[in-house]
Amino acid sequence: MSDPQTQIITIDGPAGAGKSTVAKQLAAELNLSYLDTGAMYRALTLKAIRQDVDLEDEDALVTLARQTTIDLENHASRVKVFLDDENVSEAIRTIEVTNKTFYVARAPRARAIMVEWQRAIGGRKGVVVEGRDVGTVVFPRATKKFYLDADIGERSRRRIAELREKGNDVDADKLTAELKERDHKDKTRNVGPLKKADDAILIDSTHLSIDEVIGEMLKHIKKDG
Ligand code: C5P
Repeated sequence: MSDPQTQIITIDGPAGAGKSTVAKQLAAELNLSYLDTGAMYRALTLKAIRQDVDLEDEDALVTLARQTTIDLENHASRVKVFLDDENVSEAIRTIEVTNKTFYVARAPRARAIMVEWQRAIGGRKGVVVEGRDVGTVVFPRATKKFYLDADIGERSRRRIAELREKGNDVDADKLTAELKERDHKDKTRNVGPLKKADDAILIDSTHLSIDEVIGEMLKHIKKDG
């Protein structure tokens, strides 16, 4: 296998396909660190909401990003997200932040700053990185690329179960509609849209367990090692 210190494994795909769970476990299995790029978009969005920054104003988002430090810490399979030293791991997962993250995601100059941060982290040591554009834009020369997909029905069921487990009251139809809208926005924006890199391996997780997905990925990673 290539040097684990420099190995970069990318996992792109839509929300609810299982990227986070799979990426964390794969990183632990391969002794790599784990990078959740979505957490960065979420953290900057959270700061903009709190400071009442106009999310449609790209200059304001760029200025805000330049005044911001986002740190991601891995502790075993637990990941903590720090926004200017405050632990925002839970605060970035609210429905409001989820539904407003597209403003930062579609702003080219704000995105460029996120990409720069991601490359800096990925350049330090081997990493499993998940997001929407990590195989296409952030790490086009990654060691191995995956695109993890699943049916909208299955992705929506997973999200509903996840939210209900945390004690949230979920309107299933509304959540499915929001998921579809987020997919659409992620796939159609002009910069860093969600798409499979030509050299990414497609895995459909609709009928697969987490362990089966990881098994499949490990097979590909070890095959070319
Ligand atoms: O992965 P997660 O669902 O936390 O991502 C939240 C949002 O952040 C996505 O819907 C997308 O709009 C944005 N994002 C992005 N590029 C990435 C990761 C996330 O635009 N690499």
